[in-house]
Amino acid sequence: MPDVIAYGGDWNPEQWPEETWEQDVALMREAGVNRVSVGVFSWSLLEPAEGGFDFGWFDRVMDLLADNGIAANLATPTASPPPWFGDAYPEALPVDSAGRRLHHGSRQGFCPSSPIYREKALRVTEQVATRYRDHPALALWHVHNEYGCHNARCYCDTSAAAFRAWLRSHYASLEALNDAWGTAFWSQHYGEWAQVLPPRDTPSFANPGQQLDFRRFSSDALVELYIAERDLLRELAPGVPATTNLMAGAHWDMDCWAFAAELDVVSTDHYLIGARAEPHIDLAFAADYARSLNGGRPWLLMEHSTSAVNWQPRNRAKAPGELRRNSLAHLARGADGIMFFQWRASRAGAEKWHSAMLPHAGVDTKVWREVSALGAELAGLAEVAGSRVKADVAILIDHSSVWAQDHPAQPSSELDPVEEAKRWHAALWRAGITCDLAHPEGDLTGYRLVLVPALYLVSDSGAANLEAFVRAGGVTLVGPYSGIVDEHDRVRLGGYPGAWRDLLGVTVEEFFPLDGPIRLASGGSGSVWSEVARATSAKVLDTYATGEPAWTRNAWGDGTAHYLTTRLGDDALAEVIAAVCAEAEVRPPATSPPGVEVVRRSHPDGRSHLFAINHTAEDAVVTTASGESVTVAAGDARVITG
Ligand code: GAL
Ligand code: ZN
Repeated sequence: MPDVIAYGGDWNPEQWPEETWEQDVALMREAGVNRVSVGVFSWSLLEPAEGGFDFGWFDRVMDLLADNGIAANLATPTASPPPWFGDAYPEALPVDSAGRRLHHGSRQGFCPSSPIYREKALRVTEQVATRYRDHPALALWHVHNEYGCHNARCYCDTSAAAFRAWLRSHYASLEALNDAWGTAFWSQHYGEWAQVLPPRDTPSFANPGQQLDFRRFSSDALVELYIAERDLLRELAPGVPATTNLMAGAHWDMDCWAFAAELDVVSTDHYLIGARAEPHIDLAFAADYARSLNGGRPWLLMEHSTSAVNWQPRNRAKAPGELRRNSLAHLARGADGIMFFQWRASRAGAEKWHSAMLPHAGVDTKVWREVSALGAELAGLAEVAGSRVKADVAILIDHSSVWAQDHPAQPSSELDPVEEAKRWHAALWRAGITCDLAHPEGDLTGYRLVLVPALYLVSDSGAANLEAFVRAGGVTLVGPYSGIVDEHDRVRLGGYPGAWRDLLGVTVEEFFPLDGPIRLASGGSGSVWSEVARATSAKVLDTYATGEPAWTRNAWGDGTAHYLTTRLGDDALAEVIAAVCAEAEVRPPATSPPGVEVVRRSHPDGRSHLFAINHTAEDAVVTTASGESVTVAAGDARVITG
């Protein structure tokens, strides 16, 4: 079990003259930094010309870290192939859906299915691994960086061939593929494998099954690249754990569940989105997701920002205290490491306006003072490391379903499954209840309540999994337009939601997307979506003006299954979620005023830490379940040892 909280950020010393490095590590020590990520974007300097390696300067970086007791997440530099790569192998550059080949000059300029990219990436990985496998600074392999951030899908001929190979391994025959994709429609029946293409730009909508499988294939191609590097690292450096930084909750092109299964420890990056009204709730979603991806075990926050980022339309600097609240919120939700992009703010390059631990203005700054104070605070919280968050509630989330619903020909483009999941999560957050995220086919035992905000696509086994959970006594709440199609995006017939008609005791014959709000008998309101439903065995708890059901409850086995046929407004949704929490006997660890986040982390031996984070401008009193009251000042956070 780790006995420290990892603290630090991406260190990119190659951007600076060597004289700066000594100062960097001295300041790192001053700030309590004990971990940095190095080498992430070093490929063009480690291998300046194809096959010609220069590790001298990087040896000095690693030695400096070891001499100062700072551990390294040592990256394989494969996220950004050097210019020579694009020049020598233009066929390995990515191609967009319009057939446009992209150029080198930014990063992730490679086709994920390119054999030559893989060869060159593995060669530099081998060099890094053999050179540093026994280095005292090495703590963790940081494989690549944010797989698929910019090149998640490539439509080139190489990718097309790899896609066909993927399809052949998933479908026993071309006829099975024709059947799964429903190619009798619009005269798309394939007579030869060679006719099958990625969903490149077409006159009208692409085939939904083709689009969905291409997204699965593209995600798998990235997971395979990870596995190739990881396996080489395992072979050359047995026992050193490996990770890659996911973008859980923010970027949906890569199947995080599939990635997580291959990682020795889950790490992720999170950035506040300024356009969100309460970005700290989005942070909580990402953190809960990361913890769930790691099976509840502590995870690593590989990157977040000390202040502004540089890639949103308007990049808001963080308010005083926000950096600390954000960091402690990740810690509260199970992170055993709090790291930033990046250590020293760049002077040049596309990210020179991105905040860092050490700002352009130097150490006499708000950011530096907060960074140093946080380092000291985390050192004092070492006892938190290794403890866990126990959640009674899970929200089901699946990338295939998100991808399938992303097809442009839907009853409404306004029902966004990711935003719905986040809205339901936010309702729990406001109720002070911490939840996990779970895959529809994942293990649901141990939860009391399972929420299904938006799961358009569900496999037969996923459908059965939820039924089994309820039969065994669980409570579920299912949102509209869930359980609609099978794993090939084919409609489940006989009345919607075909997967869960019996479980919910409801049958739906038609969808009615809305162009404005709709009033419910309870006084609440819905918008965007409604359904013409009939309760078969369910009890109707709320209705539209027409008397048709808006909210139903069905007894099933030892549990109950609730269903909503509209997208409830935030207030009405909060009430329904409060009702299902009460029914499932789910309670928050404390009572607290709105805007105050309270989460508990516990060790198996009973030692625990209650984090209370006040995101408001008013002092707040938090009362724990055992009746203890603590005041948390405006904008402050307290960690109560129990
Ligand atoms: C991440 C990336 C970092 C840096 C950061 C800026 O997506 O991994 O390298 O670009 O964003 O916010
Ligand atoms: Zn390609």
